Amino acid sequence: MLLKTVLLLTLVAQVLVLENGLLRTPPMGWLAWERFRCNIDCDEDPKNCISERLFMEMADLMAQDGWRDLGYVYLNIDDCWIGERDDRGRLVPDSKRFPHGISFLADYAHSLGLKLGIYADMGNLTCMGFPGTTLDKVELDAQTFAEWKVDMLKLDGCFSTREERIEGYPKMSAALNATGRSIAFSCSWPAYEGGLPPEVNYTLLANICNLWRNFDDIQDSWRSVLFILDWFVKHQDILQPVAGPGHWNDPDMLLIGNFGLSYEQARAQMALWTVLAAPLFMSTDLRTISPQNVNILQNPLMIKINQDPLGIQGRMILKEKSLIQVFKRPLSGDTNVVVFFSRRTDMPFRYHSSLAKLNFSSSRIYEAQDVFSGEIISGLRDDTSFTVVINPSGVVMWYLYPIQKMQKNVQKSQVPLMRIWDV
Ligand SMILES: *[C@@H]1O[C@H](CO)[C@@H](O)[C@H](O)[C@H]1NC(C)=O
Ligand SMILES: *[C@@H]1O[C@H](CO)[C@@H](O)[C@H](O)[C@H]1NC(C)=O
Ligand SMILES: *[C@@H]1O[C@H](CO)[C@@H](O)[C@H](O)[C@H]1NC(C)=O
Ligand SMILES: *[C@@H]1O[C@H](CO)[C@@H](O)[C@H](O)[C@H]1NC(C)=O
Repeated sequence: MLLKTVLLLTLVAQVLVLENGLLRTPPMGWLAWERFRCNIDCDEDPKNCISERLFMEMADLMAQDGWRDLGYVYLNIDDCWIGERDDRGRLVPDSKRFPHGISFLADYAHSLGLKLGIYADMGNLTCMGFPGTTLDKVELDAQTFAEWKVDMLKLDGCFSTREERIEGYPKMSAALNATGRSIAFSCSWPAYEGGLPPEVNYTLLANICNLWRNFDDIQDSWRSVLFILDWFVKHQDILQPVAGPGHWNDPDMLLIGNFGLSYEQARAQMALWTVLAAPLFMSTDLRTISPQNVNILQNPLMIKINQDPLGIQGRMILKEKSLIQVFKRPLSGDTNVVVFFSRRTDMPFRYHSSLAKLNFSSSRIYEAQDVFSGEIISGLRDDTSFTVVINPSGVVMWYLYPIQKMQKNVQKSQVPLMRIWDV
């Protein structure tokens, strides 16, 4: 252990601060893994297998259906695209599933105003057993991705040792920089070290990666969402300060549009990921997603909050015996977002609170906009008591601003969906 620590410190000391100017706000886009996994059987399942057809169809929809214009610009490939290494040692995609190659796909994405992300693995093999990026291949693979005009790399960590990862992730970061192409760098490194200090040095990560997966892969269930959320909350004193413009914690993909979440749970994941300043990577079938789920993912105020330029990650500030949890994220221009989250499983809960209980400054009058309903709640003083009605495994999300200072840049909703405060 001591030896390993010494080794880590020695390597760490050599690393220079990387500032590639990318991802000043959390990345938004579409990532294949959670929904489409390693489905490589294009004979049996041509519409859903990992292939250029799937990525081109998603690209078309991202451009046509408003996703791109709202900021969902990354079209990201995950595992199972690689065919082999050629006789010069270079990665080549599976020739049957990606017959035109990755540079073709990158050009296609760029022609639609999108960016292309790709996947590799720091180790002998990718997690699904395709050729990995061993230490001797790091520079070659970085050059290959740059030649293909790729815009983001997710570097996984299966089939590697801790020592190889300590050397490999900074090496890839330097190799990407040396290509001269701006390539955002997503590191799965901390997820392979338990996600916490002393095994994980978040200062170092922020210097070499634009985002990192701290913890386990998300699965298509509410249980998985809660498992990840609870881990992030438990360790928020460590994780919250390390996020910021250009370097983000990544609690993994959004499940919205898939099979595991109810409507309330889908809204809750969107709200909670937004308050955590998390990347918004959808992983769903954009060909069949319901209008209801589109509305959750395309809520303009939600996206504006997620993309707040200060880039401060929110925190859980209250955990009530009633199983209500309150999260708060400070935003630019003296605004804040508050999420009231119910862990209850019985019925809509009437939660009584006031801005004073949420630590808002007493000298101001605030207005809140309900992020889902659009309703405006005006004239909130710190001692005004209010009641929010929170559905089981659901959220109420308020965008709060002091009314003396704010411009009226928000629309009053036509018909309030429900009365959510009492004086
Ligand atoms: C990677 O492959 C090498 C050579 O076959 C082997 O010695 C090493 O144990 C492997 N490492 C891991 C982590 O699987
Ligand atoms: C490479 O790193 C330097 C120094 O951190 C930075 O100024 C430059 O923008 C980086 N280039 C690329 C292509 O990321
Ligand atoms: C973490 O990394 C930073 C930046 O490389 C370094 O200055 C610091 O000493 C490291 N901390 C530990 C505990 O290794
Ligand atoms: C309010 O602020 C105080 C002092 O900064 C802090 O100790 C307390 O935990 C905060 N409470 C909430 C609910 O944020």
